[in-house]
Amino acid sequence: MHDVTTAGLEALAEERFVIGTTAQVLGEDLTALDDWCGFQAIFEDLPPDAYMNDGGSYRLRRFGRFVYTHEGDRLEVQPHAPYSQPKYFNPLNGGVDRHFAPLTDAIVNNQVLQRVLKLLGAAYSALEDQPRWRINTYFNRIVAKSAEDGKPVPEGKHRDGVKFSCLFMANHINFTGGDTTLFDLLTHDAAFEGRLSAGGDILVFRDDTVLHDTTAIQPADLAKPGYRDVLVIEFR
Ligand SMILES: [Fe+2]
Repeated sequence: MHDVTTAGLEALAEERFVIGTTAQVLGEDLTALDDWCGFQAIFEDLPPDAYMNDGGSYRLRRFGRFVYTHEGDRLEVQPHAPYSQPKYFNPLNGGVDRHFAPLTDAIVNNQVLQRVLKLLGAAYSALEDQPRWRINTYFNRIVAKSAEDGKPVPEGKHRDGVKFSCLFMANHINFTGGDTTLFDLLTHDAAFEGRLSAGGDILVFRDDTVLHDTTAIQPADLAKPGYRDVLVIEFR
């Protein structure tokens, strides 16, 4: 088992993952930005994911695409498009075009989103000597109710099929569970076990070296729902 390593993105030259606060991982405290509250509020306005083949109603979601170009540190939003994933990456929900709700202009222009994408893009470009990246962003709220667990990863242990993946927590509200494990791609031994435990926590990993999974969540106070609000960011 690897110890939980708190380090900056430059550690990905030698490591498969890094975890910590934005200040530790990205070198900037994004929770100190004026737009942090606006970033957290994005997750209050997500429509239900209508493509849950397990019948679950526990996931709310928006989806957006960007391109990052290292020269000039440029980030460009891309036209909204359906999301599709081969069945071999996602046996539960893959194989069909999924028309998720788009990002609004306010979301696209949120300074926390802009900053995290640019900081990741600059770091990945330096690590991989790759000048241009395609980015998928998923704003996910997983809801836990006393009658229904919330499943952050309904498809189970998987790869995203990209080069780098990132889980960036916005809100951690009234839930237990939600432990993430990264598994060695070849041996399936756990390379990391831990959790995002507060808004502003971020986990970045090399998706081409590990599988990942996250356990279900339950409300801590059963009288109220729990919410796990995480922005998933894929770079390829
Ligand atoms: Fe994933």
